[in-house]
Amino acid sequence: MATIIPVASFDCVVFGATGDLTTRKLLPALYYRYKDGQIPGTSRIIGASRSEMSVEAFRERARDALKRFVPARDLDEDKLAAFLDHLDYVAVDGAGDDGWEDLAAKLAERPDQVRPYYLATSPDLYGSICRNLSAHGLIGEKSRVVLEKPIGKDLKSARSINDAVGEVFPEEQIFRIDHYLGKETVQNLLALRFANTIFERLWTADVIDHVQITVGETVGVEGRAGYYDTSGALRDMVQNHLLQLLCLMAMESPLTLDANSVRDEKLKVLRALKPITPHDVQAVTVRGQYAAGAVDGKPVQGYRADLGGETESRTETFVALKLEVQSWRWAGVPFYIRTGKRLPQKLSEIVVQFRASPFSIFPAESFGREPNRLVIRLQPEEGIKLEVMTKDPGPGGMRLRPTNLDISFEETFKQRYPDAYERLLMDVVRGNATLFMRRDEVEVAWAWADSLLKAWADRPEPPRAYPAGSWGPTAAIALIERDGRTWHEEMH
Ligand code: BG6
Repeated sequence: MATIIPVASFDCVVFGATGDLTTRKLLPALYYRYKDGQIPGTSRIIGASRSEMSVEAFRERARDALKRFVPARDLDEDKLAAFLDHLDYVAVDGAGDDGWEDLAAKLAERPDQVRPYYLATSPDLYGSICRNLSAHGLIGEKSRVVLEKPIGKDLKSARSINDAVGEVFPEEQIFRIDHYLGKETVQNLLALRFANTIFERLWTADVIDHVQITVGETVGVEGRAGYYDTSGALRDMVQNHLLQLLCLMAMESPLTLDANSVRDEKLKVLRALKPITPHDVQAVTVRGQYAAGAVDGKPVQGYRADLGGETESRTETFVALKLEVQSWRWAGVPFYIRTGKRLPQKLSEIVVQFRASPFSIFPAESFGREPNRLVIRLQPEEGIKLEVMTKDPGPGGMRLRPTNLDISFEETFKQRYPDAYERLLMDVVRGNATLFMRRDEVEVAWAWADSLLKAWADRPEPPRAYPAGSWGPTAAIALIERDGRTWHEEMH
């Protein structure tokens, strides 16, 4: 069990305190950190939202949320009661003038605390919340603002959000969350690459044939159809989570692990991404939308029915892309990425396929030329697997087959894997921005996404339908098979 080092005492103000993110993710994450002794007893978590509510009522809501979203084995009644004592509440209108004096008075009770302002609201409110914080004198050296995605829906809107927040907070105090960066295995990618000479030497176009990144989900749009239909998979997943994974895969070694060194290297990858033009959009992209089908053996309806019968929506719920990183290291190595809702499995993984051996000394019937593959599984069953060729045991001649060198993190470390938000929230308090996105990264990623969105918008055909419970439209299979390669589709 790793030693837990307590963070500094803080007052974390959560705007959007009654929303989904607070309920599902933030409160459980804070509860775990408190239970493990990382949050000092003088800290407060101050819920803020428009609803008038007593502190007791907020604590009751929080208790319900924790009972729903924390497994019973981790809910210790005494710890839970003690945690709830640290919750406070104030009704504040993020878009208007009400409630700010009350919030200021509450914060003035403990002027020396670290002060994270977590904006778990619609991005439309980011500007006005920040202006109000500034107008009420609530921003000091120990303040930080945390912005949830989506930061805008294109480059223009992202810039205007960044401008509004940047007017009152210096960049070092702005923490833009991409929760994929807080996942343990994603951080392990840094360890794998930069703490092991064997892999880093092989991380080049001479040895790697191609890379695949898959982030599959079994869920549909759940209760978020309103947001999702204006977003789609490219904005919701690719512009942020998948591109961040690609950056960590492809970046050069940073000079140190400090925030700017890491982000400088990721930025170079984003800048090196070849823009997708109208000319090649058909060859290198596939958009899909789920139709009725079955997931986990249960029938589910299609996307348009999930929207309540809206028949015209052209929003994509699946994307597959073939990308190029235009750099010396990666010239000629395709990055195939795909993500979608209502796929057969919740599965996130990165697959690095090495080149096949140039020549086989083994007889043709030995099946000896499967290329090596490194599979980094982010979820579920986090782990790293290297597929190597071995000889089949026994006297039957030289028959070869791929076998796994397999590290299952659960079996190796035998401990609970903390949720990404636990790590990220503590990093905010510590003021460590390494796992957060800098303004320029977000904007370069949007500039790239904008060119693809524009190319799609100019095309007449809608996204291709795929049955819920399949790996997307058949065109996504063709996208990679045209190049003589296949998606890594092992069932776990
Ligand atoms: C969010 C997206 O950022 O990530 C959701 O908005 C998606 O649509 C979620 O479901 C996936 O996160 P995770 O951690 O469950 O893979």
